[in-house]
Amino acid sequence: MARDRRDYYYHQAKEEGYRSRASFKLKQINERHKVIKRGDSVVDLGAAPGGWLQVAKELSGGKVLGVDLQRIVPIEGVETIQGDINAESTIKKIIKIVGEKGADVVLCDAAPNLSGTWSYDHARSIELSTSALECAKKILKPKGNFVVKVFQGDMFNDYMEKVRDNFVHVKAYSPQASRSQSAEIYVIGKKFLTAPLRKGDKFVVDIENLGSSGDGAVLIEGFVVFVKEVEVGEKVRIKIKDVKPNFAFADVEERLGKSESPEKPESSD
Ligand SMILES: C[S@@+](CC[C@H](N)C(=O)[O-])C[C@H]1O[C@@H](n2cnc3c(N)ncnc32)[C@H](O)[C@@H]1O
Repeated sequence: MARDRRDYYYHQAKEEGYRSRASFKLKQINERHKVIKRGDSVVDLGAAPGGWLQVAKELSGGKVLGVDLQRIVPIEGVETIQGDINAESTIKKIIKIVGEKGADVVLCDAAPNLSGTWSYDHARSIELSTSALECAKKILKPKGNFVVKVFQGDMFNDYMEKVRDNFVHVKAYSPQASRSQSAEIYVIGKKFLTAPLRKGDKFVVDIENLGSSGDGAVLIEGFVVFVKEVEVGEKVRIKIKDVKPNFAFADVEERLGKSESPEKPESSD
């Protein structure tokens, strides 16, 4: 069964002119999770020989950039960089090409050379996926999307948490085109968060305004946080419970009495 499946995608890639059977993984990821849309700029980390680049170009039609330690044979309409995704010089080159505003999508199908020792390969994979996440944080636009390959193992859940810290929606997905015996899985992060706060963060705030929903609305470093069940004039310790691209929600952890500088009373005249 696994052999049949491998042969199917291998032959299908040859027939359709793709450089690798991996092309079908990205197609399936995108069918299911809609990470790349028309016009998007896409950066693919660990892109050689270029199967994902071909698919990314078809899907977006926009700027597509591939990065790999290996040279990538040119693809029409696709730019490439030969470099290590861990190197700051590579990140600088990427930003120079995609521009200061960043890319809409960062993909990473990079893989370490496998030794065959499961725990070692897992650790190397987590290291590489962590580099990809750090790289994505530097080059993604706010609300951009991220796809990264990870070999499963005991550090996988911690890695998922790191991705969850930075994206609104996070899922793990195994496309049909992955070999059934493979440990690989793809982590999909949608809507990159650029908020100056994270879930679990705590702050002491004065409630000076209520939003239209009746929740308290406070600004933390210019970012709107809605706080449930508070009144204007209260001082409270809050804990961030959910972060969205443009605002966050928080619960009250502790009521600290009256605000030192309450807003002027509602009926002042
Ligand atoms: C499985 S291949 C990618 C296949 C590609 N998605 C395709 O469809 O053709 C993994 C690639 O990751 C690259 N790679 C591994 N570590 C890297 C690193 N630190 N920086 C850049 N590329 C890396 C390898 O050179 C290899 O070409």
